[in-house]
Amino acid sequence: MLSGIQPSGRLHLGNYFGALRQHLELQRENEAFYFIASYHALTTIHDAIELRDLTNAVALDYLALGLDPEKTTLFRQADVPQVTELCWILSCVTPMGMLERAVSYKDKVAQGLSPNHGLFAYPVLQAADILIYLSELVPVGQDQKQHIEMTRDIAVKFNNEFGKTFVVPEARILESTAVVPGVDGRKMSKSYDNQIGIFEEGKPLKKKVMGIVTDPTPVEEPKDPETSTPFLLLRLMADSAETAEWETRYRAGGMGYGEAKKRLLELIDENFGPYRERRKELADNPAYVEEVLVEGGRRARAVAEPVMERVREATGLQIGYAPDKRFTG
Ligand code: ADP
Ligand code: TRP
Repeated sequence: MLSGIQPSGRLHLGNYFGALRQHLELQRENEAFYFIASYHALTTIHDAIELRDLTNAVALDYLALGLDPEKTTLFRQADVPQVTELCWILSCVTPMGMLERAVSYKDKVAQGLSPNHGLFAYPVLQAADILIYLSELVPVGQDQKQHIEMTRDIAVKFNNEFGKTFVVPEARILESTAVVPGVDGRKMSKSYDNQIGIFEEGKPLKKKVMGIVTDPTPVEEPKDPETSTPFLLLRLMADSAETAEWETRYRAGGMGYGEAKKRLLELIDENFGPYRERRKELADNPAYVEEVLVEGGRRARAVAEPVMERVREATGLQIGYAPDKRFTG
């Protein structure tokens, strides 16, 4: 099983409930590779210190929240440069029309981002990420479904043209959570600057939660929980009895949004408070975190390189390469 997350900003509650939480649960029953997609983030971040710091922050978040580096391989995408080599080779079997239909590319351009070639080729690099480890399962949010379909098409095309080389992977769509709303009610996203960070705390957190935008319905009137951001966030963390109680209180009237926001703040502290100390300890021990990433990179390359040897042979780029280390499966 493999998944990646872009270090293009600090991770927020949308990333946690939409991806990270499930990644951490899935590591128990699966052999998992999780990587920090630093090459992908380079399509938008052109500041060395920022990219380095955001990459480290993602590693700290995963480790603090319970990723077990003994069992699960956590690594930086750029520590496996073979993936860019494969990306070029896959580019040569990827039809232009397929990339032109990519929704995520069209969305980013529509948002006003001035596109570079990396952004256009993003799905090919993602296919290389997945195929190079012969991944079978790829747990991702609904928004990544098209990218996995493209990966499957690229794998089939390569296998047809050059002989069976790649496993055709399956997406495992994580749908336990609908879209997590941000403080302004739109989808929580760093692009809208409406996010609540997983590890925000204290006054800044309180200010954000108390500032969540709500409608001007007076306290005494009934309210619809399904359209109310404090409720939608609260139910991600409250148990089912408490959630039902809040629903009843919303519908009955006589409750102000401020009450729900206060409880939401408590729930965030209860849920993430225990991990904050762990994250601070890890942040004070950069040598340990680096060691985890370096070891993860080593393990990932050990899987990737034999696959690349097979690809170099299958394509004729290198005939008879390392015959004692032939690809076995
Ligand atoms: P952002 O929108 O902040 O740029 P990304 O696109 O980098 O976030 O998100 C990485 C993953 O986190 C996505 O594939 C998706 O599964 C999940 N995710 C992000 N935002 C949300 C959200 N608001 N609700 C649910 N899941 C989300
Ligand atoms: N595009 C993914 C996202 O934005 C991140 C990603 C890059 C990825 N390569 C991947 C996810 C490979 C799964 C598999 O969320």
